[in-house]
Amino acid sequence: MKKIINKGEKEMKIVVVKNSEEMSKKAGRLIGSQVIVKENCVLGLATGSTPIGTYQDMIAQYKEGVLDFSKVSVFNLDEYIGVTADNDQSYAYFMKENLFQHVNIDLAKTNIPSGMATDMEAECLAYEAKMKAAGGVDLQLLGIGNNGHIGFNEPDHNFSQRTHTVQLTESTIEANARFFKTKEEVPTMAVTMGIKTIMNARKVVLVATGKGKAQAIYGTVLGPIDPQVPSSILQLHKDTVLVIDEEAASLLPKEIWNTEV
Ligand code: PGA
Repeated sequence: MKKIINKGEKEMKIVVVKNSEEMSKKAGRLIGSQVIVKENCVLGLATGSTPIGTYQDMIAQYKEGVLDFSKVSVFNLDEYIGVTADNDQSYAYFMKENLFQHVNIDLAKTNIPSGMATDMEAECLAYEAKMKAAGGVDLQLLGIGNNGHIGFNEPDHNFSQRTHTVQLTESTIEANARFFKTKEEVPTMAVTMGIKTIMNARKVVLVATGKGKAQAIYGTVLGPIDPQVPSSILQLHKDTVLVIDEEAASLLPKEIWNTEV
């Protein structure tokens, strides 16, 4: 894979594929390689519609006998506050439906911050401590919001640090309303890994498809590093791969598209 942006030790690789199906395969194979190389690896996983195909690819690799998840640990990025794990809108439920129940992962090794804790501050600290005790995240999968959010780290005056609670922005609530019957049902608060937590992952794989993400992808790659576009901090990460389709890449100059891996 060619280095596209190289700022000293930092590099960002940009893989542009035709469509969502190819994106899912590519990202699924990157995560699969991590599991093969380190069978007890720690995966940071994400929810949203974009990673669903990636999970399907990981499930397919498992069914083919290529991947064994029995020693893998998972830490998810985020969860809604006030939604129980068994509610079909929770991210805990999403992960079970879309990945965990289809592979041989040990559920005791899967972690999602609880949005139902009575003491959310203690929950956030405990989540960070557990991640640290597990050795830190080897590979973090990220989606990206139209506004450049990663996890639920919304545009802000500062980059957030560790796992914390957040008030969701109007644009995120609107984007998430498609999963609910009415906009009023969308939770307005969430708990999320912080930007610093995400930046501590040894490898980051960010997936995005569609025109709606093109501006956020432009800001991620070529914009100033600015907390108003939280994903722009990935320019300072030492091993980030963007796996994006042509529509999501459409505002990036073609010279920095790289389809060969
Ligand atoms: P999406 O969400 O994959 O459903 O577009 C991505 C995100 O908001 O992180």
